[in-house]
Amino acid sequence: MDKIVIKGGRPLFGEVRISGAKNAALPLIAATLLTPGLHTLHNVPDLRDTRTILLLLGTMGVKWERDGSTVRIDSTDLSEFEASYELVKTMRASVLVLGPLLARLGRARVSLPGGCAIGARPINLHLDGLKRLGVTVELEKGYVDAIVDGPMHGNTIVFDKQSVTATENILMAAVVADGTTVIKNVAREPEIGNLIDMLTIMGARIKGRDTSQLEIEGVNELRPAEISIIPDRIEAGTYALAVCAAGGDATIVDCIPEHLSSLIDKLQTVGVTVEESGNSIRVIRKGPIYAVDVSTATYPGFPTDLQAQMMALMALSNGASVIDETIFENRFMHVAELRRMGADITIKGRTATVKGMRDLSGAQVMATDLRASASLVVAGVAAKGITEISRVYHLDRGYEDLEGKLSGLGAVIRREKEG
Ligand code: UD1
Repeated sequence: MDKIVIKGGRPLFGEVRISGAKNAALPLIAATLLTPGLHTLHNVPDLRDTRTILLLLGTMGVKWERDGSTVRIDSTDLSEFEASYELVKTMRASVLVLGPLLARLGRARVSLPGGCAIGARPINLHLDGLKRLGVTVELEKGYVDAIVDGPMHGNTIVFDKQSVTATENILMAAVVADGTTVIKNVAREPEIGNLIDMLTIMGARIKGRDTSQLEIEGVNELRPAEISIIPDRIEAGTYALAVCAAGGDATIVDCIPEHLSSLIDKLQTVGVTVEESGNSIRVIRKGPIYAVDVSTATYPGFPTDLQAQMMALMALSNGASVIDETIFENRFMHVAELRRMGADITIKGRTATVKGMRDLSGAQVMATDLRASASLVVAGVAAKGITEISRVYHLDRGYEDLEGKLSGLGAVIRREKEG
């Protein structure tokens, strides 16, 4: 296994280019199952998670090839409808094949993802939504067995909670259902907009993009699509926070500033200068960082996927910050590791209180999930001394060429074999 070794305490300067969004690539790749033919996706990040979903499609008879960041997917020979436990356990988002498989084959057998490092993460909203479209769902031996006789039927679905992947799954099923489907209280994350754009290119009829209610008029036929994956706002936010933590002046290129507005707002509050222009943001930190309170929320609120990295910055602030995690019940696994680097953080339920300090110190740390690992990188580039982050496979799930991009900003960082 590999580890990341960072010699911290150097400000970051220069330019970093953002890759395509992991959380958009996954549903868009799954959407290629909807109709036979050759689909072309551009700006697909080469990550462990995108490799996993392509591997999963491969087990179903789908062929694909990567040429740089373009992935061509030919789903003509789709013959299997099962997503095995072996793959789903490595990536929960595998559940995104449920909707498209039902739409194309009328049948899907997908392993239940189970809990994960950040909480129970049930899929009841996905399953209840599919049932409303006429799908029979049975749970047996750890698998969801879903079957529909003939086409699905449009219906009204009201989500109890806003869920990103449940919105995407039901959307992909509903595009070919008979009649009209109305989904209320949907999530509005930009990655869902990217999926709606792809489905629209494929011939789907969807109204309500970027609002909390979607209306889908089912169509009989879809065609293959060619589309680009939007930039990864969480990757962009992670580098912005790294620059804030370490100090410096860097430009984050190929991002969509509007998708980062909740973070930019917080950064301006803590005393950082953020200049937006076109598809880039310039982050300049010269003085101290002031504390600010943060509460995670669905888009356009502050993303839970940046909570851990923001906490690392607050650990270096000039005051006390209260961070509420409202989306997941157990998303403070990074706290114990940040404490090993000297951070003063206490947790009560879903609230963390962070008392900022001048410096963190490098330490050996490891994390249990992707964004927790990213928070250790943010802390590591700012900390005095050497930080060694184990279990790099978490970072490899969501950050393309992390060491290369941070080195490009002047960080002293390398990947080493562990042990
Ligand atoms: C997606 C993102 C993940 C991000 C999360 C929240 C992908 C591939 N992953 O995950 O990076 O952290 O959104 O922005 O896009 N819930 C239920 N029942 C369900 C589904 C969800 O109760 O059937 C709950 C969850 O436990 C959680 C909340 O709804 O408390 C939001 O989760 P959800 O939006 O579904 O997260 P994911 O789509 O899994």
